[in-house]
Amino acid sequence: MLSKEHILNDLQTDLIGRKLFVFESIDSTNACAKTLAEAGSEEGTVVAADFQTSGRGRLGRAWLAEPNTNLLFSVLLRPPSQKHAAGLLTFYAAVSVARAVESATGLSVECKWPNDLLLSRKKFCGILLENSLEKDRLAYAVIGIGVNVNQRSFDRFLSSATSLSNELGKAVDRADLFKRILLELDAQYKSICAGQSERILSEWNSRCRMYGQEITVSQHNETISGTAVGLSDEGGLILRTPAGNKTIFAGDVTILN
Ligand code: BTN
Repeated sequence: MLSKEHILNDLQTDLIGRKLFVFESIDSTNACAKTLAEAGSEEGTVVAADFQTSGRGRLGRAWLAEPNTNLLFSVLLRPPSQKHAAGLLTFYAAVSVARAVESATGLSVECKWPNDLLLSRKKFCGILLENSLEKDRLAYAVIGIGVNVNQRSFDRFLSSATSLSNELGKAVDRADLFKRILLELDAQYKSICAGQSERILSEWNSRCRMYGQEITVSQHNETISGTAVGLSDEGGLILRTPAGNKTIFAGDVTILN
C-alpha cells in the first residue's frame, strides 16, 4: 500500500502534494478532488488511492486498474489562467509524467493526443482533466492521472495497454515514482505560472510521433481522416484534410500505419 507518511517524509515540492490524501479504496480520486475543490481545498491538494471502484476515463469510459499495483491520483489546481488556457493542463501533466517516468526507468515516453502516454506504442498512462469554468475564468481544474506501474495483464479489450513493469521486465517502486511525478508537476507548474506554457507544448510536441502521419479521429458518429500537422494554441489537434485544415478538440485517434 502507498503510505502517506512515507511520501510526505522527503517530498521536496513547494505546492503539489503538500496537502495529500491517500485512500486504500475510493470511488474515484477525481470525484473526491472535485468535492474537495468545491469545499475550498487549497491548490496543490493531491488525492491518491490504491484502488478505485468507479475510476473514470475519458469520454465517459471506466478506468480499470488492479489494486495496490498502479498509481491513481488527482491534483487540484487553481491556475491564474483564462479559460482558453484550461485545455493546456493536459499537456502539462503529460510532460511532467513523461519526465518522471524517463528519469525513474530510462524508458522513452511518447505522447499521443489528446491525453495518452505510450511506451512501445502501447498506452501506460491516461489523463482526465475536469475543469470548472466560471464565465471567463477557470475556477479550478482537477487533473486525474492513472499510471499502469506494476500491473502484468490487462483486459482482453485493452490489447494496446501496457505497464512500466511489462516494458522493463521488473517491478517499479510506486512510491518513488509517485514522488518523482509530484516533483515534476510542481516544477512544471511554476513554469506555467511564469508564462512558459509554450515550452511545455514544445516539449510535448517533441515527444509526439503523430505528426506527418495519416490518422483518423472518431467523434460521436463522425470520423475525420487527415494528416496530423500540429497543435492549436488551445491544444486542439490540427489535421490537414482534402477540405483544408481542421482543428479537432475531442475524439479517439487511430494512427493508420
Ligand atoms: C483516460 O485515458 O481515459 C483517462 C484516464 C484517467 C484515469 C485516472 S485514475 C485517477 C483519476 N481518477 C479517476 O477516476 N480517473 C483518473
